[in-house]
Amino acid sequence: MRDEGAPERLDGQRILADLPAELRDRLRAFTLLAEVDSTNRFLLEGDDPAGGGVAACMAEFQSAGRGRRGRAWISPVGANLYLSVLRVYSMAPESLQALSLAVGVAGARALQSLGVPAVALKWPNDIQLDGKKLGGVLLEMAGASGGSWRVVAGIGINVAMPRDAGADIEQPWTDLAAHGVPADRNRVASRVLAEVIAAGEQFANAGFADFHDEWQRLDALRDREVVLEDGAEKRYGTARGVDTSGALLLDVNGRRERIVCGDISLRAVPGD
Ligand code: BTN
Repeated sequence: MRDEGAPERLDGQRILADLPAELRDRLRAFTLLAEVDSTNRFLLEGDDPAGGGVAACMAEFQSAGRGRRGRAWISPVGANLYLSVLRVYSMAPESLQALSLAVGVAGARALQSLGVPAVALKWPNDIQLDGKKLGGVLLEMAGASGGSWRVVAGIGINVAMPRDAGADIEQPWTDLAAHGVPADRNRVASRVLAEVIAAGEQFANAGFADFHDEWQRLDALRDREVVLEDGAEKRYGTARGVDTSGALLLDVNGRRERIVCGDISLRAVPGD
């Protein structure tokens, strides 16, 4: 019998049965693992999905979950969502960078459809609730034949993070359980998988421009005073959303700059 209060186990048949039929048809392979180092690594080193479809991988536990900028993604067993989706794109790599923002929008759509209130996005691809990190997206890509690219979009969402595991996370974080969302990981998994597959199609057809207005509405830091950190370098400015290529727009000393990499956070106001 399942321990009441413990999150249920992932059930591949249930997740697939909950997908809309047209999206299930796009899925050429679906792998649900008890344990893996990283679902992104698993798909990156696997086969291409046939016929322009997608392959997906989920795991109950990642022993070496990957976060952005070489960080680890804390991935305790049976607690959260660890999902990767592989698709081949015939696009220039510069245009593909913004796919990570589009996948953030997909995560927000999925959570909104589950009734999660006030989901927001922090550039480039954090999913936030109440100003704390609920999830994130990591895009990894490799060249394929004919100038196309195999792109793995990995998304992690904290569903019911055990407090001891959460103690290792080096930034303010939250989980769905803290917001009264029942820990139905199978439902979360099928909604997020559906939205990520759909967003991949939308992106392949129309690019990030088609997500731009929605991203701007979800922007957690628009018009806020922020600090941008890129390695040892810090820049202070006012966040002005993103352009149609997904670059952050930052006003610094009256001049607008286009930022393509780094981490932003709210600038601490002295005395706060
Ligand atoms: C971030 O740093 O915010 C990105 C986190 C991405 C984590 C997900 S969990 C599923 C997939 N597999 C990984 O190893 N990383 C991504």
